[in-house]
Formats: sequence, C-alpha cells, structure tokens
Amino acid sequence: MTWTAQPTDDGSFTFFSAEFNEAFHSRQGARSEAFTKFAEATDLPEQARAPQLCLLDVCYGLGYNSAAALETIWAVNPDCRVELYALELDASVPQAVVDSSLVNIWLPPTQEILQALATDSECHSQQLSAKLLVGDARQTIQQLSMQADAVFFDPFSPRRCPQLWTVEFFQQVRGRLAPNGKLATYSRSASVRAAMQQVGLQIGTIPLGAAHLPHEWSQGTVAAIPSAASEAIRLTPLSPMEQEHLQTRAAVPYRDLSLRDSAQQILARHQAEQQQSSLESTSSWRRRWGIR
Ligand SMILES: C[S@@+](CC[C@H](N)C(=O)[O-])C[C@H]1O[C@@H](n2cnc3c(N)ncnc32)[C@H](O)[C@@H]1O
Repeated sequence: MTWTAQPTDDGSFTFFSAEFNEAFHSRQGARSEAFTKFAEATDLPEQARAPQLCLLDVCYGLGYNSAAALETIWAVNPDCRVELYALELDASVPQAVVDSSLVNIWLPPTQEILQALATDSECHSQQLSAKLLVGDARQTIQQLSMQADAVFFDPFSPRRCPQLWTVEFFQQVRGRLAPNGKLATYSRSASVRAAMQQVGLQIGTIPLGAAHLPHEWSQGTVAAIPSAASEAIRLTPLSPMEQEHLQTRAAVPYRDLSLRDSAQQILARHQAEQQQSSLESTSSWRRRWGIR
C-alpha cells in the first residue's frame, strides 16, 4: 500500500491511502478520534476498574485506537491486565509509524508497545498480552476465540472497503464480543447499522460533539448484545431521524456469504439489491429532514 502522512486539526498526523483513496482518520483529529469514538465510546474509563480486560482492534493501522485504549485504561487502573488482539492487512503501516516521529504523540511505554507490535507482532509484560495478526481480517478473526470487552471497528468506509462491513463479517465479530462488551465504530451509515441489527446486535448512536459539520448527525455507532444492552449497558438511543434512516434503501446491508468476495463483487451485489428494494428512497428521507 502507498500512503502519505498528513496533519489533522488536533495536531496529530494520519496517513492518506492512495489505494483506498481515503484518510485513515477524521480530518478533525486522528488522536482525539481514537479517544472519543473508540476508547470512550466503549466505556473504557468505567470498564477499566475491572482487574482484566480483553480488547479487539479491527484494522489496527497506525495503532492509534489500541494506544488510546491502553492509555485510557491504565490512567484509571494501572493494575488492569489487558489482553489485546489487533487485526491488520498491511504490516508496513504499523511499521511506518514506529519508524517515524508520528509515534511520539503517545507516552513512552505506549510507544514501546507499538514498536514491539510492529516489529515482533506481539508484546508481553505483566500488564499486557498483545498480538497483531497480519492478513485479511475476514480470515484472521477466525483464529480467535475470545470475549472482547471492547471492539474498535475501524475499516476504511463501506464504499471503499465493503468487505469488512458485511452481515457475515459482523457475525464473526459478534461471536467474539463479551456479553457485556461494546463495539464502537465511526460509521453512522444505515447499511452498517442494519447489518449489525441483522446479526442480533442492539445499536446506539455516538452523539455529536461540540464541533461538527452542518450535514453531520452522529459521530458513529455503538453496538452490544441485547440482553446486556438492556440491563448493564447503556446505549444512547438513535434519534427519530436516524431510526427513519434505517427504513430507507440506504439500510440495505452489504453481503459476502463466503467471506472471500472482492470489493467489486460485494458492491455490485449491494447495488442490485438496492435497486430491487421496495424501501423508501434515501433522497426522500434527506429532503424530509433537510439534509443536503
Ligand atoms: C481507517 S484505517 C485504520 C486506522 C487505525 N484504526 C488507526 O488507528 O490508525 C483502515 C486500516 O484497515 C486496513 N485494512 C484494509 N483492508 C483490510 C482487511 N481486509 N483486513 C484487515 N485490515 C484491512 C488498512 O491497511 C488500514 O490500515
């Protein structure tokens, strides 16, 4: 993969991927996104009071979500023992970060962990057992038997990387979520939310922060297994506008029965299913809610 480093509004850098034609993080701030949309959205500040936690980082990339999670957990409870599994297609991405000064945004112990993961694909200490599994996450996830307290779900956007937003891949991820665990993603797309619902996850929104663009209505989605969601876990309910979005053609989910289809095959199937759908057009929904 080829990429170039570029600054974001909080001063931290991200990469821009030429292959996926997309940045790895939001323009508003790569480092801050890792804290707000992943570590905080999965309630790690509260979960960190437990003696141990298990984390799954889907699309490790520059390692920002894992780094923010570890710093969040150990700021609350330095004795919390963490088991971390990270999935990434391209080992040269984590390596490029630790070979550059981009890694300096993290505390020195975190930098050492990112360095070990990039170089040795694992890192073990009294507090941490971490593994980086390199390959297509649709296959590497099948090696894992775990119950994740937090899943950071961070592929490129559904249009660019539909392989990782399908009903079938969410089924794999759901099978690795602890009964009280939470999955967080930056995506607020109806197709993504519908796929999560189809595999039996309950979903909530990540409410907008103070600074947001006029067309935005959410910072992402949090999902959990329903029995837990109704009892121990609080999710922020979708607004009426977001609920109606799930009744439109935008909510036709991506499918990949074999977990091996190409992006083109998945996109073509999705387009055909949307065309056949009797759901309301998404443009009517946009007009009704004044979304440009
Ligand atoms: C949006 S970036 C992730 C950013 C990352 N979470 C971070 O904090 O830096 C998406 C990542 O997904 C990886 N990727 C793309 N396709 C993949 C696949 N099929 N399986 C696993 N990783 C994949 C890319 O190499 C890229 O590093």
